[in-house]
Amino acid sequence: MAPLPVPLRTPLLPHIVTKTVPFNQNGSSLVDNFSRTISYLRLSVTDRCNLRCLYCMPDESGDNACRRKNSPILSHVDLLSYEELLRIVRVAVRLGMNKIRLTGGEPLVRRGILDFIAYLMKIDGLDEVRLTTNGVLLHDYAQSLYNSGIRQLNISLDSLKREKFARITGRDYFEKVWQGIRAARDLGFRIKINIVAMRGINDDEFGDFVNLALNEPFQVRFIEFMPVGEKSSWQLDQFIRAEEIQASVSDLGSFEPIQRLRVDGPARVFHLRAKDGRQGYVGFISPISHHFCDQCNRLRLTAEGKLRSCLLNDSERDIKALLRRGATDEELMKMIRDTVLDKPKGHRLQGQLEDGAALQCPGQMSRIGG
Ligand code: 5AD
Ligand code: SF4
Repeated sequence: MAPLPVPLRTPLLPHIVTKTVPFNQNGSSLVDNFSRTISYLRLSVTDRCNLRCLYCMPDESGDNACRRKNSPILSHVDLLSYEELLRIVRVAVRLGMNKIRLTGGEPLVRRGILDFIAYLMKIDGLDEVRLTTNGVLLHDYAQSLYNSGIRQLNISLDSLKREKFARITGRDYFEKVWQGIRAARDLGFRIKINIVAMRGINDDEFGDFVNLALNEPFQVRFIEFMPVGEKSSWQLDQFIRAEEIQASVSDLGSFEPIQRLRVDGPARVFHLRAKDGRQGYVGFISPISHHFCDQCNRLRLTAEGKLRSCLLNDSERDIKALLRRGATDEELMKMIRDTVLDKPKGHRLQGQLEDGAALQCPGQMSRIGG
């Protein structure tokens, strides 16, 4: 493993696992047709990003072959304004949503994001605001984010090697990201590191990532590569099932499953004990190989203001248009409820994978927000 800038042994923090909130007992009135209680809203606050990850929005030239010209960045008026976002969140919270994740694109590139977070934090009934970031601006924002009351960060990091990081993301920002992660760690954020697992790209680093979980107070989570995006770079031979990822690191210690808890989302998380006494938490997220749809508790609001009930299903409702026509809160609530009632039981990608079919989900990840 490439030496990390600061190898550090921090005591295990129990809070990096999760808060214990049992399934379907969170008081939300939003229950779908399959008895799933919907309490979690993911907000994509921008489709812009300061990276060009090859699986998301590759550059128009170079290693990350072109597809951005087919998916231009949204103009300012196409984005939901912060006022509009706050209105939707308030209405969603009245219906029982109690957790928000800010995502993108890269949420920290949107101007005024800290003020927006400050307003979000004042909403009664909203228990938790979390942030998914690529970490590029984290060093600059960590203290302000902490001051705003955010305590949990999901940070995307697909390689621990500078050159490979640059190849995957199209930008030579590994050091910057690592500095940001350290700053956030030192402030006491709960940190989850998300790795999109790609065969032939970063599969040689899975052991290094597990060691990161053993050496740092981070929960490290491997995510199956999903075929999302109109011209996604996804290829079947790059896809690695979660089981295979887990098997490839199984000799690093004993993996004891942590009881699955609603609030932590779809990861199967393990308490890992290494032979040398180190401990850590490692998760596996398998949207493709294992449906976890039966436990899905989320809705998404895309950067362009569409409500979406499933990441891997392109049916959406245009809540921005409704809002801009002067809708009442009741009309907005109805659209949220209708979206919940439309939530599909699950997605069909697993079956397609088994058939060896070309998988595709046309939405654009940077707008939907992962
Ligand atoms: N497959 C799996 N994960 C993805 N992400 C973005 N695109 C994909 C994909 N095609 C992840 C990012 C980030 C989260 C928001 O979604 O790496 O961790
Ligand atoms: Fe940016 Fe995230 Fe897409 Fe990478 S995956 S280009 S960090 S939005």
